[in-house]
Amino acid sequence: MSRESDMSTSVEIPVLIGRKRDGGTLTAGEITALIDAYVHDGVDDAQMAALLMAGVIRGFSRDEAIALTEALVASGDTVDLSSLRGPTVDKHSTGGVGDTTTLVVAPLLAAAGCQVAKLSGRGLGHTGGTLDKLEAIPGFTVDLTPAQVRDQVERIGLAVAAATQDLVPADKRLYALRDVTGTVSSPALIASSVMSKKLAGGAAHVLLDVKTGDGAFMQREEDAIGLAELCVSIGEAHGRRTGALVTDMSQPLGDGVGNAIEVAVAIETLAGERHGRFRELCLDLAAAALELTGVDARAAREQVAQLLDEGAAKERFREFVVAQDGDGSVVDAPWEVLPAAPIVREWAPGAGWVAGFACRRVGELAGRLGAGRQRQGDPVDPAVGLEVLVRTGDELDGTRTAVRVHARTEADADAVLAELPDVVLVTQDEASSVPLVHARIGLEGR
Ligand code: URA
Repeated sequence: MSRESDMSTSVEIPVLIGRKRDGGTLTAGEITALIDAYVHDGVDDAQMAALLMAGVIRGFSRDEAIALTEALVASGDTVDLSSLRGPTVDKHSTGGVGDTTTLVVAPLLAAAGCQVAKLSGRGLGHTGGTLDKLEAIPGFTVDLTPAQVRDQVERIGLAVAAATQDLVPADKRLYALRDVTGTVSSPALIASSVMSKKLAGGAAHVLLDVKTGDGAFMQREEDAIGLAELCVSIGEAHGRRTGALVTDMSQPLGDGVGNAIEVAVAIETLAGERHGRFRELCLDLAAAALELTGVDARAAREQVAQLLDEGAAKERFREFVVAQDGDGSVVDAPWEVLPAAPIVREWAPGAGWVAGFACRRVGELAGRLGAGRQRQGDPVDPAVGLEVLVRTGDELDGTRTAVRVHARTEADADAVLAELPDVVLVTQDEASSVPLVHARIGLEGR
């Protein structure tokens, strides 16, 4: 019997679609068989799209999300990190604008004795991707074999590489289908997609940074908290110590939005030259990850602040860049070593208060300059993007530069400058700042 006919007899797809449409639930066995059949072409995209849409509208239960995660993991390879010495830690952000925390948090955790083997993705739409940012460093390679990742982590405590095609292949196919069928925005589908990759990545401790606000997948705080709780319960159900911070994405996180620009901002943060919300969140995330490994919350925050202040994280970042064939001098002179855009223009909006941002549009503007991609496989321009130098609640004196535009052409810069008044919202009424961390899930203390 062919594999295909085997699948079609064991799963009655139209029955499952009908049950989901009517608000019923699928068993773990049915979900396992469904995903197995999908990756072996026993279920076609139309059927899967119908089932996903029924689930998006009717909702999936926690047990369905756990079963789906397991089925996705089972579709491909998993990484075995059990031979590594210190605690294995992974950190994942649901994606945002100016969100380069990995470049600071990973070396910080490595300097604290953790083992960070991170398999990352590329940017899509208004959000950037860690691999694209790292590739802005001359020579840097993200193409490491699983054995190279393990060796490097053993030597220096961290590696960041592209996830291979064989890691959770069912998620790749399902995500592409969700992307074109309006079925991305389901907490269970997002949680199982994210957590399947974390589980397959092999770390025993998983810290999630779930974003909320206009620049995030989950714009409303209660939805982001629900997603974080679901991710944590999926991780814990699979024996991984899992925690989450729900954090602000109503405005760009770091001062840079764009590949080389974000690397420069991360390096300057590691060097102690940049302060503010990006640095604070990097410390919060690193401390929360250490907490998952059993360190007391207060001691963890003190330890990571000290490692950053003493330059230990910066030196670990240099070792990491060199280990992956990048130019280590980027750490000493980022703006000289990284590719630079030929046109840099400044925008000062006049006196007033920054009342808020159209955050997603900030990411989209960087994309329009060439920093992002609309379709998988499109090239990105490493040099272009924005520096966003103000935050919600800041008072502007009339001369302060709010945004610096790094563009390939004058026309590109003009087009972006014309939109900035609708993107950085300035009022004459006093405005207040917004909280950085909205909630902590699966973690103790503060
Ligand atoms: N990121 C993922 O990896 N999967 C989703 O479904 C959404 C965001």
